[in-house]
This record gives sequence, structure tokens and C-alpha cells, in this order.
Amino acid sequence: MYCHYYNQLNKNQRAVVDNIREHVIVLAGPGTGKTQVLSVRTANILKTHNVSPSNILILSFTNAAAGTIRERLVEIIGADGYFVEVGTYHSLANSIITESEEVSEIFGEKIKLNDTERIKLIRHILDTLDNISEIRPFRAPYHYEKEIVKNINILKREGIMPDDFSRLLINISSDGRIIQEKHIPRLHQFSKVYKMYEETKNTKKEQVLDDRGRYDFDDMIIMATHVLNHEEAIGKKYRKKFSHIMVDEFQDTNKAQLKLLLSLIDHKKTNLCVVGDDDQSIYKFQGASIGNFRTIKNKFKNLTQLILTENYRSTPEILNISRKLIDGIPFNNKMSTKSLVPHKDFKHKTIKSLRFNSIREEMSFIVGKIKELVKEKSGDDPYSDIAILLRTRKDILPIIDAFLQTGIPYVTDGKEDISSHLRVRQLLSALNLAVNSHNPERADRYVFELLSSDYFEIDISDMTSLLSYVSFKKRHNTEKQTITLFNEITSEFPLPLKFKNPLKLHRFSRTIQRLIKDSRVRPAHQLILQYIKDSGMLDFILAQYEKNQILRVRDLRAISSFIEYIKEQTTANSMMTITDLMEDINLRQSYGIGIQGILASSHHKGVRVLTTHSAKGTEFHTVFVPFCIHDKKWPKKLITALIPIPQTILQVSKNMCSEEEIKKLHLFDETRLFYVACTRAKANLFFTAAPTQKNIPSMFLKNMDIEPQPCLIPEENVLKFSIDTVKERPPFLQTNEILEDYVKSISLNPTNVNDYIRCKRYFLYNNLLMIPSELMEGQVFGICAHKALGEIYKIYKKKQNLSRQSFPEFDLFENIFKTCLENTSSGKRIEQGCLGKIGELKTWYQNKAESPARVLFIEKKLKILINENIPFSGRFDRIDIVGSNRNVCVIDYKTGDAYRHIKSIADNNDPLNKDCDQYLHQLIAYKLILENQPEPYKVASCKLEFLEPSKRTVKKYNIEEGEYKTLELTITDKMVEDMKKLIIDVWNRIHNLEFEKLVEYDKTKCENCNFRGVCWEG
Ligand SMILES: Nc1ncnc2c1ncn2[C@@H]1O[C@H](COP(=O)(O)OP(=O)(O)OP(=O)(O)O)[C@@H](O)[C@H]1O
Ligand code: SF4
Ligand SMILES: [Mg+2]
Repeated sequence: MYCHYYNQLNKNQRAVVDNIREHVIVLAGPGTGKTQVLSVRTANILKTHNVSPSNILILSFTNAAAGTIRERLVEIIGADGYFVEVGTYHSLANSIITESEEVSEIFGEKIKLNDTERIKLIRHILDTLDNISEIRPFRAPYHYEKEIVKNINILKREGIMPDDFSRLLINISSDGRIIQEKHIPRLHQFSKVYKMYEETKNTKKEQVLDDRGRYDFDDMIIMATHVLNHEEAIGKKYRKKFSHIMVDEFQDTNKAQLKLLLSLIDHKKTNLCVVGDDDQSIYKFQGASIGNFRTIKNKFKNLTQLILTENYRSTPEILNISRKLIDGIPFNNKMSTKSLVPHKDFKHKTIKSLRFNSIREEMSFIVGKIKELVKEKSGDDPYSDIAILLRTRKDILPIIDAFLQTGIPYVTDGKEDISSHLRVRQLLSALNLAVNSHNPERADRYVFELLSSDYFEIDISDMTSLLSYVSFKKRHNTEKQTITLFNEITSEFPLPLKFKNPLKLHRFSRTIQRLIKDSRVRPAHQLILQYIKDSGMLDFILAQYEKNQILRVRDLRAISSFIEYIKEQTTANSMMTITDLMEDINLRQSYGIGIQGILASSHHKGVRVLTTHSAKGTEFHTVFVPFCIHDKKWPKKLITALIPIPQTILQVSKNMCSEEEIKKLHLFDETRLFYVACTRAKANLFFTAAPTQKNIPSMFLKNMDIEPQPCLIPEENVLKFSIDTVKERPPFLQTNEILEDYVKSISLNPTNVNDYIRCKRYFLYNNLLMIPSELMEGQVFGICAHKALGEIYKIYKKKQNLSRQSFPEFDLFENIFKTCLENTSSGKRIEQGCLGKIGELKTWYQNKAESPARVLFIEKKLKILINENIPFSGRFDRIDIVGSNRNVCVIDYKTGDAYRHIKSIADNNDPLNKDCDQYLHQLIAYKLILENQPEPYKVASCKLEFLEPSKRTVKKYNIEEGEYKTLELTITDKMVEDMKKLIIDVWNRIHNLEFEKLVEYDKTKCENCNFRGVCWEG
């Protein structure tokens, strides 16, 4: 395969691939094969150098782009492609941080600062700090908050921390233009806010957030850089590990990321190759991106710059208009002028720029055109080669609405606002009802909304009788008591009425009563999970799959995402009440953040609806660029900075000295972004706009000589578009296609293989569709015990002198256990249950503390590839060193009673037998993983350590009541071979979409299964 790809390359591309001894910079235009060349270069390194795949690092800009590079690598070099380190700066930073015990400790309990917390934190700081009246005006105290958030982001990305910033401000004075007199006090006061923001977030000082502390996205990069430069062993390890580093889209590497990159480089040994295009630099402060290339040029002596000019993506016409656009940026704002030679052409190709009378017409055109294109194109996936590229995330919504209305499948670039999804609205009604239950009149609105929700399946005639009964009672109310639907359905129920289907109404009444009762005592996410269960919402959705094989995947995703969101909120604030939650939702809405969730996977077949930022590096046969309105979307209007950060601080190469200059640079930034959008297209490029009297089409279109032509959509087509609704019909694709899509991204591990063996349908619901469910007490206990043990061993491992004396006392274990329990917010009942068993844990702990183990790894995740294509990973509780020569013992902690497992392992040790114990499967899988590492370990033995005492005495299995069992097993090579067969079989079945339920109700498996109500009636 390598030869095939290599032979395809042109001369200059080959030069990039062949030149491995020197550092290489490739500065070239779009579609010239920069990204492509990185994969072939990787193959060449592996072929010609004695390095292993994990010695090569490729940094890309998004996870999606990293995924594409990896796929290409696997295609070219086979299974080795999985082991090349391909990722983003953030994923790299994450792995560096987890290696540092010091930083892991600093991060320790810290959780990620979420969007609303950030706003709350800024507001808190504005309310707390003295002498900041310039940025906290009396009448509008939060007027500057968005600007503050924006500036903090900019500074952190540039690697400028609060102390640096306040130092840099010392000599700042007004330049009379950009930095005016009024900005100086604002800058100094902002500096105070920035300082307090970092302090409050990092330490446990303030009450606004709880005492775990927070980190934000950019902290990871800064921390990882710190680790590489200050923790010698880790820095050395990484600089030794990555002999070859390649960076795609280098123009958008920010200062903080550049520092991280440079900290990874050993100037004598590392080979660096960066590829990019300054014309496609799409993050602000373009000077900085030119600065990146210059920094590299200055730092590395042995460096070659190569240029690629052949474009293999777009038609000559598309390249021609794109060139006209980018030539609008004068040469002194660029690194170089890049000529592009077209190499690709298509028989059917179009460039169209159209204007419409309304957005409705614009949408109607796009929808109609997509349907036309899809009809013309054969193949099983005509949609995925079409993209709609947008200026802002907000623009995604009208497009999605139009697609949902007309049944066009689509995929977005990650999260979208789910707050208007039907299922989320229904869940919000339930929460609103609970919050307003003390006010029955207000609650009535929500009772009605819920009563008419499809999943309660309330007969329309029953609903009518109920409503007319309440209305009659209201009219004839003589006792002056408040008659409400809410009271009738809760306190007065059952009513003296004859219903067609009284059971459904009874269920409704019970569900509402429980919701209100629970809302006073249970945490929000549990409340909602309970409501979903009681109301039958999930059963209703899944019943469509059970009966008709229709998977309402968007509904399921909307529910999961909403629960995820609530969980995130409760992680941030374990005491969160539903009133707090509703406040958070309102704050989000007023701030335009919405509730972010994922409704479609990026693997789905469908039109790509993307922001142009996230479309970087991609290509599509047809691209639509809608909303081409000047000073609104393309370009976006420049908003004057309220607290402008001086350029001297940001070290932009260009000295901006006038407002005119700033406007021009802003326009260049927007031009580059539009250029990225245009150059994604291979054959067809449509620009659309619906200007009103107040605005005009984008000047970019004029610059490209393609002024929009009026396009009249026949009235009946627009009308048809309005009427042609396929509302509530989410499965655009066949269920099998959806499942295939899910299956594509699955990777196996011992737990999900066991789940599949237990019940295929359970695997589908639980592991593939990830339908949310409540944690049981046993699971919570297990999670907290594992967490505490993990932390204890981490602390112990760091001690100089490993002995009984240095092993942490139980008090510490207990504290960690309790904090973890608090953070799971699992409610009083479960909490008490777990705390009740802590005495038993203490006995176990003290026994073990007598002779602490020689630990190699704690909570370690390792992966392998089975049969070169099955990704299989395992998370190890503990791996101990046994003797030397990489001999190890695997320890897996278990909670619950040991008897059942000890018995079934004693009775049956054949992994291929259907009754084989799942713990045994797990241990065999661990041996399989460890002995197949690039540098294999030898597993001497595997142990199951039961943390709770046995509940009975069973002589046959050598079990004494009250005894803490440790079951040590020797796993044979034959067992490992059989386990491998089993995994391959499970993998194949999953890919054949075998997800049938058990043939009949199984007492052990179905009794406690969350999906019992879906699978079995009664
Ligand atoms: N020598 C070649 N012959 C034929 N096709 C090629 C060649 N080199 C690259 N391609 C194809 O050209 C297209 C563009 O390549 P690639 O995405 O690597 O360009 P790029 O320079 O990274 O673009 P961008 O700047 O937009 O990220 C891809 O479809 C790639 O497979
Ligand atoms: S109820 Fe039974 S059949 Fe249904 S998913 Fe659960 S275990 Fe499988
Ligand atoms: Mg690229």
C-alpha cells in the first residue's frame, strides 16, 4: 500500500516524505496534499528508521481530523497505524498530566469549569472585588462580563498568566486611538479580575464554587508544558519517546500550544515537520500565526522549507474565484503568495451565487437543490459529500430546522442546542412542574403539557372528560377553594369519572405524585431518571424498536444528552436542587449557551452542517455557504473591544495603530475564513443570501466577481416546503444503517464483552445506545471503594520508604471514600447503605496494610489490537511486580458476595462455555492484554480480591463466613487463546447486528435489568 501512495505523489510531495533527516516546513495552499503527505511520511519513517509507531507523534487540530489521519495511516501501513500517536494538543496534554503525580494531585479532585459556572464565577468576582467601578458600572454591573471572558480566553491561549499580564500593564499608556485614556483603568481592573478568577478557580478559597477547585480548557496545555519543563523524568521521557513530530494546520497553533510543542523537542534528536497555510489562519491575531513559522525558522538551523503547488481538490473555476478572494489581502500581511495549479476537474460542476426574498426561500432552495443532487448521485451515501458551511454556531439551527422538516439526514460537528427537542421539552415540563408544585395554578400549565405527552398514551376522550370535569368544578365552586387540574390529578385522584383507559391515568397520577414528593429529597438527575422510568417514556420509545424495528435514535440521544447535562451540573454542585437547575437553564438561555448535547454521530450518513472553523482540512463534492450577508455573517461585523488588550502584550507582528487598521485586519481575518469555506469544495459551490432592506450581500462575493443573481422560488414550492413536514419522523435512515454506524465506532473491553454474552439486547441498549439508568447501591459502593484504593496506592507508591509504617492510615481511605460518595450525589438511601459497610472495609484494609504490595501500576488503561482490527482495552485496578523480568500479578477488586463467583469458577473454567463466570473472562482478558503489549509483560498470576466478607460458610469451596476471600488463579495459554476466539466471535456478531433479546424471561438476568419493562410485558 505504501508504494501505491508514494507513487501517486508529485515531486515536491515526495521531497517532504523523503526528507527525514532535516526539519521540514511546508507552507502551501489548500488541497495541495499537506495532510496526505504526513501519513505517507510516517510510513516512510517506519520503513527506513528503526523506530516504533509510538515514537511518532502527529498533532492535528480537532479530534475528527485526528481520526481521519489515523484512518489514512491504517490504510497505508496497516495495524501499526493504530499505535502512532495521533491526537490534538489537548489529548497530548492530558496524557502528560496524568503521568505527573504532582500535577495529577493538583488537578486531583478538580473538575472542569462549565459555561455557567464561568459566568457565575465572573459575576461573583465583580460583586466581591473593591475598586472596579470602571468595569462594574453601578447600573449595569455585568455589562463587561462577556468581554472579560473573551479576554481571559485570549490571554490564556497566548500563555499570558495574571502575574505576567499585570507586569506587562505597568508601563501601558494611551495611544489616543486603540488604547484610549478610558481603557487604562479598565485594563488594570480587568487584570485584578483575571487574577482573582485564576485564584478562585484553582484554590479552595471562595465559596462560589465548592472546595474541589476547577480547571478550564487551556489550563491543561499550560500545566502539561510546566510538567515537561519542571519534572525532569517526564520531560526526558517524552523528549526521548517522540523521535519524530509532525504538526498539521500549524498556522493555528497558539502561543501556549507552541510552548508545549517546543518543550517536547530535543534539539539534537527530534525531527520536526510542520505543515500549514497562513492564508487559512482562522484564529485571531494573524500576526501570531506568522510568528509561529518564524519562531520555528529561527529556532531550527537544519531546516528545509518546501512548497506544494498542485491542487488535487477543486475545479479550476473554484480555485480561480478563491484566488481572487485571497488576493484581496495585501502581500505584506502574508508569509508568501501561493500559486495553485489545478489538477482536478469534474464534468458536472457549478459555481452559483443567488439572492432570495426571504430566508424561507433560501432554505427552500438549499433543500430542493440537495434533493436534486442526491437523486443524480448513485451510491449508498449521497448525502455525506455535501456540506453546509456556516459562520457561527447559531446559524446551524435554521438549517437543522429545514432539514428536520423535509427529512434530509444531517450531521453536525459535535454538540448542538437540544433545549427545543421534543423529549427535552417534555422533561423540562416535568421539572417545571416539580419546581412550581407549591403554586397549583401555575403548575396547571405543566400538568397539561405532560398529560398530552405521547408516552403517557392517555386517550383523547379521557383527557377531554378530565378537563371538562375540572372546568365544571371550577364553575360550580361554592366553597371558595382553588380548583386546579393539578390538585385533581394529585390529591383528589381517583376521580368519580368513567374513563376509557383508567390505568393510563392512574399511572400518570402516580408518576406526578412521586415526582413532586421526590423533588424535595432527591438530587436532580435521580429525580429525572426516576420520572423517565415511572412515566414509561423510554419504554414508549424503545417499544417502537421492539415491535417495528424502528430506532428513534434522536429521541434517545436527546434524553441521554439532557441527563448528561444534569449530571454535569450535579458533579459541579452535588447539593444542586431542581430550583438551582432551572436557574442554570434560564441563565444558559439568556446567555445564548443553550443546553448542549449530541443528537447525531459524526459517523452518520448525512449532509454535514458545520461551522467553517470546524471544517478546516475537510473536502466535499458540494459546498453551500448560506447567509452571505455583509457585516452580519460574511464578514461578521467588528465589535469594538470594550477592554482592548494592547498589541504590545499580544506581540502581534503588525503594529495596529488606528481604528482603520484594526478594521482592515478584522476584514482579513474574515476573508481567510471565507477562503477556507470556498476551498473545501471540489465541484459545486453555492453562495446564498436573503438580504433585507437593511443589509446587502457579502462584499466577498463582489470581490470574487460573482455578485448574487436574484432567484425566484415559485410560491407553491415555498408553500410545499412549509407544508412538506415530516415532523417527529427521526429515523431518516433505516435502523440497520443507524446501528451499523454505532457499531463502527465501538471498541471492546472485558466488561462490554461480558455484557454481550449476558444478553445481546442488553448490550445494544446499555453499551451501544448508552441508554441512561440509575446507579444501584452496589455500583456506587464499588466505584467509591475503587477510587479510594486507587488514590491510597498512588500516595503510597510515591513514598521513599515502602513499608508497613509508610502505608496510609484508614482515615485517609475513609475520607476519600466519603468525598467520592458525596460527589456521586446518589441520594440519602444509597449513601447510608454505602456508609453502613465502611466498617467491613476497614477490617479488610487493616489486614492488607500489614503487608503492602509492590505496585507497578494503579488504574492503568492498556490497549491491544486483536486480529489486527479489533481494538480491545482493559482498565486494570492494580498490577503488582512479581520478582523481576516484567513478571506481574493482576489484582482486580470486587465488591459483593464472593460465593457465587468462586463456585461458578470452580465448576467451570472454560471461557467458551456459556456458563463461564464473567470475572474469569475478565482475568483471562487482562492476561491477553498484558502479554500482547509492544513490550510484553509475563502474567504470573491473577487475583480477585473481595473487599467484603463472605456471607456464608461453604466447606466445598473453602469459604468461611466473615472471611475476606482472595481467589488466586493461574490462567493458561489455552484459556487466553479461547478468550481471543470469544472476543472475535463477539466482534463479528456485533458487526452482523445480532442484538436479539433472550428467548425467554431469565430470572437471574432479566429480574434486575433496567430494560425488563421494555422486553417483557407484565
Ligand atoms: N499526489 C496526489 N495525487 C492525487 N491526489 C492527491 C495527491 N496528493 C493529495 N491528493 C488528494 O488531494 C486532496 C487534498 O489533500 P489534503 O487534504 O492532504 O490537502 P491539504 O493541503 O491538507 O488541504 P487543506 O489545506 O485544505 O488542509 C485529498 O483528497 C488527497 O487525497
Ligand atoms: S430484560 Fe432480559 S432480555 Fe431484556 S435486555 Fe434485559 S436481560 Fe436482555
Ligand atoms: Mg490539510
